[in-house]
Amino acid sequence: MGNIEGRIKNYLESGQGPRYLKIAQAICKAVDAGDIPVGEKLPTHRALAEAVGVSVQTVSFAYAHAEKEGYVHGKVGSGTYVSHHNLEENVEFLKDEVVDPAQMIDLSIACAIASSKQVDAFRQTLLDMAQQPDAQQLINVYKPFAGLLSHRQAARRWLTAQGLETDANRICICNGVTHGLMIAMSSLVVPGGIVACEALVDHGLISLARTLNFKLEGIAIDDEGMIPGALEQCCKLKQISAICVTPSMHNPTTATMGNTRRQQIAEIALKYNLPVIEDDVFGPLSSDHKPPISSYIPELSYYLTSFSKTAASGLRVGYLVPPKREVHQVVGRLRASSWMAVPMAAEIATQWINEGVADQLVQWQRKELKSRQELAAKLLAGYNYQAHPEGPLIWLTLPEEWRAEYFIAQARARNISITPAEPFVVGHQPAPHCVRISLASAESTSQLAAGLKGVVELLAEEPSPIYIDSEIY
Ligand SMILES: Cc1ncc(COP(=O)(O)O)c(C=O)c1O
Repeated sequence: MGNIEGRIKNYLESGQGPRYLKIAQAICKAVDAGDIPVGEKLPTHRALAEAVGVSVQTVSFAYAHAEKEGYVHGKVGSGTYVSHHNLEENVEFLKDEVVDPAQMIDLSIACAIASSKQVDAFRQTLLDMAQQPDAQQLINVYKPFAGLLSHRQAARRWLTAQGLETDANRICICNGVTHGLMIAMSSLVVPGGIVACEALVDHGLISLARTLNFKLEGIAIDDEGMIPGALEQCCKLKQISAICVTPSMHNPTTATMGNTRRQQIAEIALKYNLPVIEDDVFGPLSSDHKPPISSYIPELSYYLTSFSKTAASGLRVGYLVPPKREVHQVVGRLRASSWMAVPMAAEIATQWINEGVADQLVQWQRKELKSRQELAAKLLAGYNYQAHPEGPLIWLTLPEEWRAEYFIAQARARNISITPAEPFVVGHQPAPHCVRISLASAESTSQLAAGLKGVVELLAEEPSPIYIDSEIY
């Protein structure tokens, strides 16, 4: 078969066009023809550059392109390897499956850290549930739509601990905040209506706006999140239907509002008589949890929280607390969207609240996140980023010389997955020069450390100006 450089050269075509693309295509063809088998290590950038007579950077682009096409993947500190590859895997939306998950260091998902603690608690609770004399109620329950009273009573205790005094009859159990947002938005906004939100938001809200056909108006943000003056200006100028805000550990910027900021937002909502949808999905993680905005304006607010970031990602139980007079309307939407939230999941949450397990899991999560943040602070020292000391995210400003898209591709070529800023941008504003790094999705601290070290190595590199490389164009 000859050495691997030679096998790649066999497929190199002459003629016009970017050299890096030709090299990438030659690699893909050699793989398709079976000349380079799956799992084989590709030459170093330098070795192939010398063999083909191009710059090292051109080979880097070629590898990044072949990686994008799903033919190869990088392993941190080891090199570039041929991936399992078939036609199906070329389909864009299946790309994530191209990379062997066992190799990928995932720093991309805003989730709860997975631990044996959750599994132990889950096993025990399932055993207890199976033996409960009224287990039959859980499997045959069909009503009430808002959730069993016992579940709403436990939810009330949980919400009180989050600083929201309410009454069990106001609480609607839903399948996570995502579901609760859909219910609240569909109750408040008609197609074409406008919702004011932070200029950057969780992309779930952007998808929801597209699904329900309402518009998002991005309000300027600072290091405490939504800026009251900018919100007020928007309320004066536009016909806003609702305000949607994430006051604690905002995704992606990690900003947390202080008490004054929360009161200011509540005052504006009152002044303009606008409902506030308060997404407190990360709130319980903070040991210094501030009173929710909803606690100042209970008759105008739709408060939402869940367990997916704070206790266990798969426990898709959320609590939605609408204004008292709107409960009936909200329950109607809950019924229309899922009849009622899954009672068995709500029972697990209820038992975890009643037995103190939910609290223990949140405390463990907080402690673990704190130590992961400390690790990140050491490794990222000197770089510009925002984070909450007990939160799962890092919002990293890239050095000027990097293009964000290229940085992400290079991280991915080293088998590290991080998230670009674009998906969080509301409207057509330019994306900030940032990437989001999740500290919660890595399986272990050592994996996280390896991923962060890979990111730091990349940050320290000097990317050459890609658009003036004569070998490429
Ligand atoms: C701000 C925000 N709200 C809601 C969600 C989704 O919450 P849930 O898992 O409870 O549906 C996310 C998930 O990342 C989020 O970042």
